[in-house]
Amino acid sequence: MEIMVFGAGYVGLVTGAGLASTGNHVILADTLKERIQLLREGGVPFYEPQLPDLLEKARRTKNIQFVHTESQEFKDTLASAEIYFIGVGTPELPDGRANMDYVFSAVDMIASQEGDLSNKIVIMKSTVPVGTGDVIEKKFKAAKKSPTVVSNPEFLKQGNAVQDFLKPERVIIGTDNEKAREAISFLYRAFMLKRDRIVCMSRRSAELVKYACNAFLATKISFINEMAQLSEIVGADIREVRDGMITDSRIGDQFLFPGLGFGGSCFPKDTHSLIAQGQAAGIELQLPTAVAAVNKKQQLWPVQKLQKVFGKSLSGKTIALWGLAFKPNTDDLREAPSIKIIPELLKLGAKIKAYDPVAAHRVAELFPDAIKTKNLVVCEDAYETATTSDALLIVTEWQEFRTPNFKKLKSSMSRPLIIDGRNIYDSKIAKQYGFEYFGVGVS
Ligand SMILES: NC(=O)c1ccc[n+]([C@@H]2O[C@H](COP(=O)([O-])OP(=O)(O)OC[C@H]3O[C@@H](n4cnc5c(N)ncnc54)[C@H](O)[C@@H]3O)[C@@H](O)[C@H]2O)c1
Repeated sequence: MEIMVFGAGYVGLVTGAGLASTGNHVILADTLKERIQLLREGGVPFYEPQLPDLLEKARRTKNIQFVHTESQEFKDTLASAEIYFIGVGTPELPDGRANMDYVFSAVDMIASQEGDLSNKIVIMKSTVPVGTGDVIEKKFKAAKKSPTVVSNPEFLKQGNAVQDFLKPERVIIGTDNEKAREAISFLYRAFMLKRDRIVCMSRRSAELVKYACNAFLATKISFINEMAQLSEIVGADIREVRDGMITDSRIGDQFLFPGLGFGGSCFPKDTHSLIAQGQAAGIELQLPTAVAAVNKKQQLWPVQKLQKVFGKSLSGKTIALWGLAFKPNTDDLREAPSIKIIPELLKLGAKIKAYDPVAAHRVAELFPDAIKTKNLVVCEDAYETATTSDALLIVTEWQEFRTPNFKKLKSSMSRPLIIDGRNIYDSKIAKQYGFEYFGVGVS
């Protein structure tokens, strides 16, 4: 099939490269000129395991083409597509609603071509508020166009995005149009050889499924974190509580890790958008509201612990951060606990040394003033970060932090204090090596 994908971000690039790998011809369009240039030269704009190989394969077979949305090439190829995927960002507005400008600008571009488009399909992969498909249909109608508008939310996880796309747990197709269902099912069947995992439903239901899934997973995270807060106060150990909980198969063991809460480009903004959608519909969604509040508090848990040890001010203290990305295997810092913790520590007068295997350069871009004054130093090596530090905060649970050389670590630190925001260490072992140790929910 001839496919155009709007947005060369995590969702768009993975979708485009994935569809190209099954023999479709994909035109990937983005508004960022430098991003398109980089992709044309063989680069990948962010760290995502396996994506470089998948893109390379698509480039080799000439099944993928990268175009800037303002180029003549874009105008020339726009009408050639039978299917348009929209995978552009829907970031959070200050009031919590999703910013739909990027989505609507992609819609306007599709509508700008000649003809009525009645044989074409527009597929919404971006996470959009319920009813967006109807709004888009109206926009097309106003331009005298009538493509079929379908909701097909994306469930990939950064860090495992390629595998998630190539072997999806399920594909949700939201449309009442039988022909469109068939065409989209045909596209996805290439990825489900063992078992059909396509679930068809109305467009509005499909739009809500995505928010319901993310809000539910976020709820699990905030739930275990709230139990962790209680554990610390009442003298329980959340790790034991978790072990006891997860043996119940109705509860399961996923997304029940006490830690620094959820971050990233999806859970926080989607929870807030869901709350705003509830408000617009005249219903207060109490669970997502509580989930967001618990999360906000949890992200700053290490700062509270530091103040418990050092007092209100952290002036004169050097704090080492291991991990900056919102989770391992990505360099994405959007809504990461690290970017909430860093300004708090700076405000309290601390100096920060920070390390992340892939996201370090991004943090430097976010805090240029602190870098200039050397109140924030980005290190190339984990042990260098800890050297002469008064405390080590574990912020992201990268594999390389799990089994450190505790002896080397202890001898290099000014004060052997570990504040383990991801509970990756056994407190007994850390204490045996002579560390003061705080874990989340560990009293
Ligand atoms: N990142 C994830 O893990 C994930 C998973 C599932 C769903 N989603 C959803 O998918 C959507 C995209 O997320 P993402 O993380 O890929 O975003 P992203 O920020 O990584 O990428 C978005 C891309 O869209 C481009 N863009 C903006 N307007 C455009 C336009 N009019 N035409 C062409 N390109 C345009 C931007 O330049 C950018 O390259 C969001 O709604 C998000 O909530 C994301």
